[in-house]
Amino acid sequence: MQKVNRHILLNPGPATTTDSVKYAQVVPDICPRENDFFHIMHFVSSELTSFVADKEQYATVLFGGSGTASVESILSSVMTDGAIVIINNGAYGQRLCEIAHAYQLDWYEFKSPPDHPIQLDILKTFIQKLPKTVSYLAVVHNETTTGLLNDIEAIGTICKEKNIEMMVDAMSSFAAIPIDMNKMNIAYLAASSNKNLQGMAGISFVIAPKNKLEKKKTTKPTNYYLNLHSQFKYFIETGQMRFTPPVQTIYALKQAIIELKEEGVKERYERYSQLWETLIEGLTKLGFKYIVPAENHSKLITAILEPTCKAYNFTNMHDYFYKNSITIYPGKLKNMNSFRVANIGDLTVNDINLFLTIMEEYLQYIGIDTKEENLAGILYESK
Ligand SMILES: Cc1ncc(COP(=O)(O)O)c(C=O)c1O
Repeated sequence: MQKVNRHILLNPGPATTTDSVKYAQVVPDICPRENDFFHIMHFVSSELTSFVADKEQYATVLFGGSGTASVESILSSVMTDGAIVIINNGAYGQRLCEIAHAYQLDWYEFKSPPDHPIQLDILKTFIQKLPKTVSYLAVVHNETTTGLLNDIEAIGTICKEKNIEMMVDAMSSFAAIPIDMNKMNIAYLAASSNKNLQGMAGISFVIAPKNKLEKKKTTKPTNYYLNLHSQFKYFIETGQMRFTPPVQTIYALKQAIIELKEEGVKERYERYSQLWETLIEGLTKLGFKYIVPAENHSKLITAILEPTCKAYNFTNMHDYFYKNSITIYPGKLKNMNSFRVANIGDLTVNDINLFLTIMEEYLQYIGIDTKEENLAGILYESK
């Protein structure tokens, strides 16, 4: 197997993949309506379930699409009565609100700061005081905007007390942070193939208890391609997706699942956490400040405050890294200027050290003396 030219992706997915995952896509052409393909689909869907739940009781529904497809599928398929509370503490919480708005759901936004944990007592009071009965709550697990890790277990407990179904956007936590859907009281979980799973982009999926997926039979459909119940029913009856799947992406996903099982979810998270510790130690030495305190951090993606010194410019810095085969990512926060570095994918500590070396070189290139004692004072111009 010839090695593929390696790029270090420090954007929050698609992440750096192994060559074996890349090469898994190179297969003889196959019609996805064939039995041979059914076996692959079955493997992928049941193994994805097993990472977070008991596959006798829960199932995974696959869609061709980016991550947003699965989130949109849940929000547009599931609600029959009552209102939904959407927790918004970043760009992906905001996206949940935008989807709810697009489908004209009966939704209420619970806003929370992007850099602090959700105050659970305030959330409880918020739910209690709403004029409507709340039947659903949607929350992002790892808010990719900042790396803030929302405490879904505690929110799940509140939902249990109040008989609310919790929907979790686990796009950037699934396959790294251990999740137990039953224990955490998650009714619906959305994720995709191309982040911590280390597969290719193109598959979005929903995991839910089978009885919830089967349930909705009589209510008027509000969607078509993304209809969760129809997609599940068709898969049970035929072993296929209703519409053309991204065939080669599914072969890559099968390989990515095999590699995740070999590594283990807990062990993958330990590897990622070690990369994060290396990253943070190095960035702090170079004078950078990051937004979310370590105790509330997912340790998977970090929003770093942009330096305020005149010589700094994100596009220049991005291009400097890109020339060195490293991709970094712009920020997404409204009131704080930030850029983002993710530490997910097929990466090692050497990759993070290389990133730090190039960062030091870049700072020198824009005229910063990296031997200075108080680099933060220079980067953030407090001198
Ligand atoms: C938490 C979260 N939700 C949803 C999405 C949307 O995924 P996609 O861009 O694949 O549609 C992302 C992507 O980064 C994400 O991080």
